[in-house]
Amino acid sequence: MSIHFDFSYTDIKPGEFENRFDQLAQANEDLMNKTGIGNDFLGWVDYPVKYDKNEFARIKKAAKKIQENCDALVVIGIGGSYLGSQAVIAALTSPFYNDEPRSKRKAPKIYFAGQNISGKYLENLLALLKDQEVCVNVISKSGTTTEAAIAFRFFKEFIEKKYGKNEAKERIFVTTDESKGALKFMANKEGYECFVIPDDVGGRYSVYTAVGLLPIAAAGIDIDALMAGAKAGYEDYQNPHFDENPCFQYALYRNVLYNSGKKIEILVDYEPSLSYFSEWWKQLFGESDGKDGKGLFPAAVHFSTDLHSLGQMIQDGPKNHFETVLIIDEEQSAIAVLHDEADLEGLNYLAGRKLDAINEKAFKGTLLAHVDGNVPNGIIHLDRLDAFTMGKLIYFFEKACGLDGYLLGVNPFDQPGVEAYKKNMFALLHKPGYEALTAELEKRL
Ligand code: PA5
Repeated sequence: MSIHFDFSYTDIKPGEFENRFDQLAQANEDLMNKTGIGNDFLGWVDYPVKYDKNEFARIKKAAKKIQENCDALVVIGIGGSYLGSQAVIAALTSPFYNDEPRSKRKAPKIYFAGQNISGKYLENLLALLKDQEVCVNVISKSGTTTEAAIAFRFFKEFIEKKYGKNEAKERIFVTTDESKGALKFMANKEGYECFVIPDDVGGRYSVYTAVGLLPIAAAGIDIDALMAGAKAGYEDYQNPHFDENPCFQYALYRNVLYNSGKKIEILVDYEPSLSYFSEWWKQLFGESDGKDGKGLFPAAVHFSTDLHSLGQMIQDGPKNHFETVLIIDEEQSAIAVLHDEADLEGLNYLAGRKLDAINEKAFKGTLLAHVDGNVPNGIIHLDRLDAFTMGKLIYFFEKACGLDGYLLGVNPFDQPGVEAYKKNMFALLHKPGYEALTAELEKRL
């Protein structure tokens, strides 16, 4: 099973799902047959069974080389070019991965850059890595994204200064378009090893390509198992029976709740290792759904931490949201509360109880409290947290997102809205070609 969805803690009325079965079947057909809107970006749909095995083998080889040659891998990219690998690496390694001794890690530390324009962030990262053996994986489908390009300019110089131009070729790995873009041009010129982001796979659907796989494999995670999970998702979520297809259930649950007036979906986790997964999920649904004035705002909270902050708002604030809770059924840790003879804080009633079991009661107590506060809850149960399940979970959400976009009547595979800020930023930076807009915007500031 590995993933199942429980929507029994919602107020969805009998018939509300059934009324949409025809629409769902149509959306599924459009997606799987690649006949729906945005179908030039549907390469991810059957990627788990069609991916290029030679490229996959090259990814593994490069990952091994990175593991052998460096203490730290810097992954440079923004949006879909880093969120997937960060999510999987954080989920499947220790919360303190980068701080663990190399003997325990068996793979380099992983840092991310180019996902912001903060000079402070970059300056500190460069300083931190000064005396370490470093490799870089720069990732950009377009090859022109400003944030990634700026960070790469710093790291290219860093690597060349440290190792010389020749060795830089052994330490810089590029993931980009097969033939076009500034990054591809530079990679060809400098002789960097390149990995391909297929034309028909958009950034946020690209975890299974080299975009996600190279950093994930470099972190020592089993990418064969990840792809096996993706394949299982591809196969299982074609099951036409709604009752047996958690992906269909989740897609329709979102759509029904949206149509009932909900504006926000909150993804909830109870394990810090899933907090970056929420970031990936937010991007997937945010960039896919938010169009034509439509879409659920994807938010995320991390419990029990945020029960002491946003929990109040969720319980008693305006009822414009619902929660989708990610629960890992398998025990994550066996540590238990210690017994203390003095028991000054009165905690001995918990002595011997595992923290996992206490966390579970926090989940169940919160579930009932929020449902009583009129917040519908859906629960996604993961049997365990491993590479296979992560591979399947990513496919689960990608497919649900595609279906949900079609049910909503938007193209879930483009992101025209992100151009607006870029245009303004370029104009304000006086990029050649933006002169008219520069004058117009500067007047307004
Ligand atoms: O999902 C998307 O397509 C975007 O978030 C992109 O991944 C992001 O904008 C980065 O683009 P690029 O890979 O071209 O640098």
